[in-house]
Amino acid sequence: LVLQAWHAARGTPRDVVIGVTRPGRAFEAHAWLEGDPSVREGEFEVLRRQPPFGNASVAALPNGSLFEADDFASHRREALDGAVNEWIEEERRKYKRFPRFLTGLSRTVSTLLARLVVERRISTAGIQLELDHFHPDRVKYEPSGWRFLRRGLKRREVTKDAVFVDFGSGKGRVVYEAAARYSFARVIGVEISERLNEVARSNIERNRKRLKCKDVELVTCDAAVYAIPDDMTFGYFYFPFAGDTFRVVVENIVASLERKPRRVRLIYASPKLEDVILATGRFRRVRTSRGGLVDFLPSRVSVYEST
Ligand SMILES: C[S@@+](CC[C@H](N)C(=O)[O-])C[C@H]1O[C@@H](n2cnc3c(N)ncnc32)[C@H](O)[C@@H]1O
Repeated sequence: LVLQAWHAARGTPRDVVIGVTRPGRAFEAHAWLEGDPSVREGEFEVLRRQPPFGNASVAALPNGSLFEADDFASHRREALDGAVNEWIEEERRKYKRFPRFLTGLSRTVSTLLARLVVERRISTAGIQLELDHFHPDRVKYEPSGWRFLRRGLKRREVTKDAVFVDFGSGKGRVVYEAAARYSFARVIGVEISERLNEVARSNIERNRKRLKCKDVELVTCDAAVYAIPDDMTFGYFYFPFAGDTFRVVVENIVASLERKPRRVRLIYASPKLEDVILATGRFRRVRTSRGGLVDFLPSRVSVYEST
């Protein structure tokens, strides 16, 4: 990794070579950079891999191409900037009006309470970046605040045949909450990262007894290619993706509505790209909750209903 970081900084990253089963010995594995003169390749059965994502500043994408960390940052900036900048400016103005210690204290108290009460049953905390997030539209894992779903959805709004989908479900915090707190017929999580989905699966399995809705499905795929079930009545988004991915998912929901007209509600936490939903002409905003004590915009939750 040190050598690779050095080569990457000079713009000449090399393939990582992994050799296994050195003849005459028990299983052995050794990794080196392509062209390393100290290794005699003939001694190993060789597997080739693209440079790893990690300490090096280049990542190998699943399609085999290399992606520089800087390109990644600027792609994301392009995709997300317009919507996000406005918010950041507004936030800055707002925070100036509140003493810092108050906002910090409120965050610490609510995080502590959540850890003591709920997070001891399931592990969904922490921000996590996976290789799958190296795409200009995709947002890394960060769990919803524990009150987000409640802000967007009252128990009485959920009927026995209601179907809930969390688009970009991560470690399954919202999937768990939806299945444990509400009487849905089915709860589905759609997540791009299999590693995050594995954590979600174990969270759900460990708490099966506590679930009101036992029919929980966790699908690993890009939300843009996920076939919207024609009985889905609630879609949840905690700013999981932007750009074309978000547009395509919203279009797919509209197409599902055309196939099977019904009332669908979209609960959008951190609703930075609500214009995409409203531009379809098929949804209207019915409410927006305050984003906590200081009305932090990224913690706002908006609800849209099909017209
Ligand atoms: C901000 S997190 C929200 C996690 C979860 N919904 C919650 O509220 O706790 C966004 C999630 O969307 C996932 N994601 C990003 N792009 C995706 C895509 N194209 N398809 C499916 N999931 C995606 C990320 O892996 C991440 O887990």
